[in-house]
This record gives sequence, C-alpha cells and structure tokens, in this order.
Amino acid sequence: MSGFSAEWLRLREPADAAARNPELTARLIVWRRRYDALSVLDLGSGAGANVRILAPALGGKQHWRLVDHDPALLARADEALRRWAVVRGMKVTDESGTLLLEDETRQCRLEWSCLDLNADWERLAVANAQLVTASALIDLVSADWLERLARRCRQWRAAVLIVLSYDGSIVWEPAAEGDEWMREWINRHQGTDKGFGPALGPDAAPTLATLLERLDYRVELRPSPWRLAAQDAALQTALLDGWTEAVRRIAPETTSWLDAWSRHRCSLIERGHSRLSVGHWDLFASLE
Ligand SMILES: C[S@@+](CC[C@H](N)C(=O)[O-])C[C@H]1O[C@@H](n2cnc3c(N)ncnc32)[C@H](O)[C@@H]1O
Repeated sequence: MSGFSAEWLRLREPADAAARNPELTARLIVWRRRYDALSVLDLGSGAGANVRILAPALGGKQHWRLVDHDPALLARADEALRRWAVVRGMKVTDESGTLLLEDETRQCRLEWSCLDLNADWERLAVANAQLVTASALIDLVSADWLERLARRCRQWRAAVLIVLSYDGSIVWEPAAEGDEWMREWINRHQGTDKGFGPALGPDAAPTLATLLERLDYRVELRPSPWRLAAQDAALQTALLDGWTEAVRRIAPETTSWLDAWSRHRCSLIERGHSRLSVGHWDLFASLE
C-alpha cells in the first residue's frame, strides 16, 4: 500500500487544480471534440480529483474507469463525487454497478476497479480507452512500467494526459541554509521503490515523453508548478513534515541537522513568512 491518505489528497486538490497547465487543458478540449461519447481511464485515481477537474472541461458524454489499489480511497471517491455532483445540481443515479452523474450538458458514467497497477496490470481489461490519464502518479513508477503504459496506450490508440508529475525543483522563499541539500535528499528518496520497482521520480515525465514520441505520438510537455503562498500554510506544513520524515528514513545520520532545518522552516510558515514552489510537468500526447 502506498499510504496516500484521503486527507492529504483533499489538502492538495486546490493547489493541483490551480497548477494544471492551461495550454494543455485547452489542447485537450480541442482534441475532445472529435468524440461524441468519450471513454477515459484514470490510473491511480485516489479520491477522484481528476474527474472533478476534467469532467467539466470535457463536457458531453463521458465514461470513466477509475483504478486504484486502495479500496478506502475508491470508496472516498464515490462519496466525494456524489457530493460534488449534487452541489452542481447534477442528477445522481446508481445504475448496474456504475454511478451516473448528469445535467443538461454532461453525462458522466463512473465505474471503479480496485487493483494493483503493477502486479495486476494484465487484469486491467479495458476495451477502448480513448483517453488515458493520471494525476500525481508517474513519479512513483519505474522505467519498465512506463514502457508498458506507453505500449498499451499505443495499442489502444489512446490520447494520454499525465499531469502533476514532480520535476525535481523545490524553491523556498526566503531561502535558508540547507534548502538545496534537503532538495537533493528528497530527490534521492524519489528514486526509492514505491511498489513499481525503482521509481523514476523527476525523470518520469521526460522519460514518458520520449517513449511516446518513439511510438509516433505528438507530445507536449509543459510546466505545472505549485506556487504556495503564506495562506497555503497547511499544505506547506504537510509537505515539510512529509519530506522531513522521508529524508529521516533514508538518512538517519542527518537527524540533528534535519530537526533544526525543519524547525526553522516551520516557524517561517507559522509566522506567514514562507512561500514555496514545487515544480511539476503536465504531458499531453495524441496520435494525430
Ligand atoms: C499522489 S496520489 C494521486 C491521487 C489522485 N490521482 C489525485 O490526483 O488526487 C497517487 C495514487 O496512486 C495510487 N497508487 C499508488 N500505487 C498504486 C498501485 N500500485 N496500484 C494502483 N494504485 C496505486 C494511490 O493509492 C493514490 O491514490
């Protein structure tokens, strides 16, 4: 289990929504016009954030398959998407194992698959995904897994929208001694196995771009950084705690230095003096 809590996903969702690259979202909307009903496969779907962000932009008829290995997150996605639809005045219907959310302009049919995208990849029996998407997933995966993903997308002739893949850059303001050293350790931790073999971390999105280009895709890779201000203190604190914990695990000898750095950063956040940029890549690829 990768251990992403629903609380962490809820906290990051507004920052993720704001960070998405608008140029690629616009490209996606133009691409979408070629289909009447669109079938979408969302890998590592968590609590359903990708649906909440993309469904309004895609419009029309959509059939989503949400895949995650964490049953609690899939249950949370079901709950959260029902609430999300009701707030928007959409009709919510349970229909033979699927959830139907609809209004005058959209009809989204949602279904869920609880499976491990590494071990159970072959069980991912999808006849015709026209769009394969994932948000904040591929920095966890290995080069082999990305190759499998690229080949499978090509086989389906699916377009690919993979967003919010960490790019290795972390910039705190004001800067403090040790920020760079910490960033290097975080990036080393990025390479550890998250259930898919050695993770690609910051190299994932450029690697996928190359793989898809070799398979004749037209690929666009654009930045989608988080730019967190003083009012994003809760997300800054969660990141600080998560990174400190991760580095402590792989470099226990750094503890006293790490504690001092972390205390300093924490006090800047609490006093409303901290800003933080975290770099990501968004990728959109299509065959024509
Ligand atoms: C950072 S979260 C992103 C969740 C969601 N896409 C979002 O943007 O909020 C990564 C997701 O990948 C899922 N995940 C990690 N490893 C997985 C695996 N081996 N098989 C299926 N899902 C996995 C986690 O359960 C989690 O929901």
